[in-house]
Formats: sequence, structure tokens, C-alpha cells
Amino acid sequence: MRKPIYALGGAGLLLSVSMLALPAQELTGELPDPPEFAAQSEPVFVSISDIQEYKALPEYHEPDWVTSKYVDAGTLPPVAERLPKEPLVYKAGNMPDGIGVYGDTMRHVIGGRPEGWNYIGGQSQGWGGIDIGLSECLTRTGPLFMVKADELEPMPNLAKSWEWSEDGKELTMHLIEGAKWSDGDPFDSEDVMFYWNDNVNDPNVTPLNGATPESFGVGTTLEAIDAYTIKWTFQEAFPTQYLYTMAYGTFCPGPSHMLKPQHPKYSSNTYEQYKNAFPPEYMNMPVMGAWVPVEYRPDDIIVMRRNPYYWKVDENGNQLPYLNEMHYRLSTWADRDVQAVAGSGDFSNLEQAESYVESLRRSAEETAPARLQFGARTIGYALRMNFSANGWGEPDARAQAVRELNRNLDFRKAVSIALDRQRLGDSLVRGPFTAIYPGGLYAGTTYYDKDSTVYYPYNLEAANKLLDDLGLIDTDGNGIRNFPAGTANGADVEITVLANSDYGTDSNLAEGVIAQMEPLGLRVIGNLQQGTARDDMAQAGTFDWSVERQTAEMVAVVQNTAALAPTGPRIFPFHRAGSDGTLDLLPFEQELVDVVNKFIATSDNTERAELMKRYQHIFTENVYSVGLTQYPGALIINKRFANIPAGAPIFMFNWAEDNIIRERVFVPEDKQGNYELHPETLPGAPGGAGAV
Ligand code: GLA
Repeated sequence: MRKPIYALGGAGLLLSVSMLALPAQELTGELPDPPEFAAQSEPVFVSISDIQEYKALPEYHEPDWVTSKYVDAGTLPPVAERLPKEPLVYKAGNMPDGIGVYGDTMRHVIGGRPEGWNYIGGQSQGWGGIDIGLSECLTRTGPLFMVKADELEPMPNLAKSWEWSEDGKELTMHLIEGAKWSDGDPFDSEDVMFYWNDNVNDPNVTPLNGATPESFGVGTTLEAIDAYTIKWTFQEAFPTQYLYTMAYGTFCPGPSHMLKPQHPKYSSNTYEQYKNAFPPEYMNMPVMGAWVPVEYRPDDIIVMRRNPYYWKVDENGNQLPYLNEMHYRLSTWADRDVQAVAGSGDFSNLEQAESYVESLRRSAEETAPARLQFGARTIGYALRMNFSANGWGEPDARAQAVRELNRNLDFRKAVSIALDRQRLGDSLVRGPFTAIYPGGLYAGTTYYDKDSTVYYPYNLEAANKLLDDLGLIDTDGNGIRNFPAGTANGADVEITVLANSDYGTDSNLAEGVIAQMEPLGLRVIGNLQQGTARDDMAQAGTFDWSVERQTAEMVAVVQNTAALAPTGPRIFPFHRAGSDGTLDLLPFEQELVDVVNKFIATSDNTERAELMKRYQHIFTENVYSVGLTQYPGALIINKRFANIPAGAPIFMFNWAEDNIIRERVFVPEDKQGNYELHPETLPGAPGGAGAV
């Protein structure tokens, strides 16, 4: 007998493991190669210095109506005074269609809804590119898909340059000088320090994309040297990795002149009041991004107008953006695909596999208004289990018993091999799109290594055996296994699965998982919630299982790397600290944490590749999350837009809304549509009714 007694964590389950237990290796199998699916266009690879630089130009320009209606009228300073000393300049040589012209609108359609404008305080604006466009961050990573692999490092953005101390523990960053928020207030280190001190480092605040102090390394400090210089101090030498975490969405400061007076430390507000201080109806919230919200109609539209203080220009000195207006129609994600294909919307990340066939058919027609271009397989879904057994999300007895199961490898294996991934993928779309996803890093991304990937193929019989051996027996004959007597009153094993009802794919995959758990004798109950509510529950840890689209780290690895494992108490999506602030890590989780920390601490590429192989092995061998399916996404953009870079993926370091560099996208004059809702207006005073 190998293991006579098996202790299942703190719930006090003592379960005997039968002598006939299947050895692990028999459950593994050959992972089929994903069906061939060539990306439809390749980027032109360049250096960052080919894309942009910071410099003063002899003269600057703006749309004529801005000069005549605002500057000449004395309500806006001349453009040269609104720009920083050395603006960020996009080089014409890297613009696919060259220097652009002003005018027109990009009509986005999104499925999310805005909670308000306090992004750093944790409010969502509804996704689909809104927050990406409003927030500018210290560095930028989206456009890196076109940067030469051996020159890969984050692009300067609000931080225009940086240097490391000799010992590599200090990083001094120089902020762009003289840039202004869209209301004219100076951007400086006060904004950066407010973000860091009173949001990231305040445990009562969770910035939207979940930045925590550990995102930048345990023990890391940040200080302002002067208005335009900040200094990081790290525990390790040269952790260049964190430069990626300083990009979207983990280091994008908010307007401290607006937010600070509302923060509980500087006011009598509660944290809830701080978070909600700028509801969606509040207009002209100062931003550093290229467009400012000027109109909001619930369940209808958010309109944004050009930011007169935007700090980026083209090589001829034309202040960007070229597009005067941005729309975000508040509809559904599926409608985003339909409208982009039909031409009543301008942009979609085609990512819900259910609409691929129809979208492809329409886009192939000669007269199709939009072009559709597939990229690599970087969309994937996994079933994630809540790993906290020490109180995160305050589980009741049933939920606690499920947590104990989640922490048991044989249980996770059983769930994994009871899932027919091929069938799950085919149920979304037939054809060469979906591939079996064993979990961990995606096939086709830089650090993926097939030989390090442990795959447990579909084997329902063995799955049932594993659960029998765990003592989960259907004692009352109703087709559902029961907890052993003494655990959760020996009740039926009922597990809830959280999923985002805003997306057809999320709901369909959750339904698929529910159906496939039935022959395993597990009653899985769907908890389908709208995006924001789902995100809140996931944050709060009030879930047993969750079916969700995988996060950035799984694709790029270098982006937000510290979140690849529970490296800190609040950083990891499915295992956070319990009520006492500690993480009850399993031994393999600790190994993952060590691997990730080593990865962050080294810049040796061979060592990094080896570490990620190790990561993939530990992750997949332990079924850290149950991979479901992975498939490619397609970018759909209306044909009237120019300067869309070749090979722009819908997702790599960031979403396509960042990758295509919207501020330099334009519409040639002869193709401009009549879509502007507030022509020849600029954002008004903060809080005001709209464009003036
Ligand atoms: C949502 C959409 C994605 C992308 C992002 C941008 O998640 O599903 O396609 O638009 O928003 O944040």
C-alpha cells in the first residue's frame, strides 16, 4: 500500500485511498497538436526608436476649428503652450499610411457598463477600450507586438526615460515635463505618488486591474525626488520585469487634483464614497488619454471628444489624436461583432467563437465594410477553483468542504479528465479554430513548451474511480455523490460555478462544464453574473469555481508577471489571503511562487526559458487550473481607417485597442463619415454637462 491514509486539509476529512488507485502516469496522455491556423498578417518588426521619440518641434498644429473657436476666442491657450516641453512624437516612417488628417469618429460598441470614472479607486468604465483610452501609464506595452524580439522592453510613455543605479536596486524615472491633464492641470509626481501611496498601498483600495504593492516586488518603495523625477528601490537587482507592470493597467495614475480631496485620508469620506465619488453622469473627468467623456446616456452611449491638452504629436507637429470623437455604444459584446461586420460599428475583437463562421462569411464579401484579420491562438478559457481554505470570501460549511476538495490533486484530476475538451471546443465553433487547452501557458506563445506540459486526457471512467477513492460516494442514490459523513452533513456535493453572463462564450462554456460534471456525479450550479458583479465576486473570493477567459500573464508572461502565482496576499485571482491575512499555500503553489520570483529576478533569457518550462510543468501536472479551450481571435476594423499596423493581434501584451495606437489612426478626407455628435466642440469644465 502506497499511502494508507490521506488527510484532506483542515476540514478533518480522513479518506482512505484504495490500493487500486491509478498511478498518476496512467492518467496522462499525448497532447494533440493544435490544428494548423496561420495568422493572416505579420507585423513589420521595428525598434522602439523607429516608432516614437520625445522632442520639441519648431511648430505645432491643431484642427482649424480649435484655433478659431477656442484659442482665438481666448478660452484656450495656444497649442504650443498646451503641449509639454518635449512632446511624444510618432515618427512618420512607422505610420503605415503616413501623417494623417483630422476628423471623424471611431464607433466602438461594448458589452460592459460604466461604474464611474474612479479607475484607480477600482471602478470599471465598461471595458472594450474605454479605460485603455482614458488612462495613460508610466510605460506602454500594447504596440510591442511589432518590436524586434531581441530589443523587447516596455515603451516609454508618461515616464520618458529611466536609469538603473550601479547595483541595479534603484530605478530613477523621468516623467514627461509640462504635460497636462485634459483640464489643464499639470501632470507631475504628485499624481504618481497619490496613486502609489493612497491607492496601491492602501489595503482598503483595489485599483481596477488589481495592482498591489507586490505587483512591483515585496518591499519595493517609491519616492518623488522632484516634480518630474521618481525613484524606485527594489530588493532585487535589475528587476526589469516591473517595467512591464508599470504599463496598462497596473500603473496608470489618476488625476490627484480631483481624487485626493475625496480620499478618506484627506476627507471625511468612507472608502465606498471615495470609490463612487465620480459616477458615470459626471462629465469631463480629467484624463491624460486622447479623448474625454462628454456625454453619457445609460444603456445607450458614452461620447468622448478630443483632449485639447493631449501630449503626443506627429512629426509635422500636428497635435494628436487625429480622430475628433470616440463612441462607445452600450450594447452587448455579441452586438459588437455584428455591428463591426455590418459597418454600423467600427471595431471589434472577434473573440466569441460562436460568431466566427457568420462573421467570416460576411467579411469575405467584396462589398464588406470591414476587414477581418485573424491572429494567433491567444484566447483561452479555464475552470479555476478557489484554493483558499482559510477564510477568503467567508465560505459556509458547504463551500469550505468544496475548497478542501479543490485543494486535493486527485479531485482536480478527476474534474479535468471528466471534461471532453474537444467537445467543449466544437460546441462553440466547428473548424480549425479551437484546440485542446491543458491549462497553463498557451501553445504558440513565447514561453510555451509542449514537452513541459502535462496533459490528462478525457477518461470518464478513471475520473469516477478517483472520486470513489476519495470517499465521495452517492450514499442516497440520487445520482449525486455525497460528502463523507461528518463533512457538510454528508450532503450532496454541490458546487457553484461563477461565469460572466455578458459573454455568450463564458455562459456556454460554463453550461458545458455543468453538463459534463453530471456523469461524474457532481452537481454544478451555474452562477451567471453580469460583468461587474462577477468581477466583484471574483475579487471578494465568493466563488467555488469560476469559468473565465484567461488573463494577460498567460499570454505574455512578462506582463504583470508577479500575478502568475500567489506571490503576495492579494495578487492572485483564485488564491488570496484568508481572514488572518495569510496565504495557505500548498507545497506546489510555493514552488510556483519561487519559480516566478526567480523569473522576475533574472534577465538571463536561457534561465528564463527554463524557469517557464518548470512553471508549465508544475502548473499542468498539478492541474492548477483546468484548461478548457484555446483559439485565435480576429480584429475587425472598418475599412475607412488608415494607420492600422499590420499583424496587430487582438491580444498579446495588451488588447487591440492599445495595439493599434488609436491616437495616430485617421480617416482620409474622402472617406470621412458624418458621425460626430458634437462637432467642433471640446470637453468643458469637469463635472459639467458636456462638450462646450
Ligand atoms: C473586454 C473585451 C475585449 C477587449 C477588452 C479591452 O474584455 O472582451 O475584447 O475589448 O475589453 O479592455
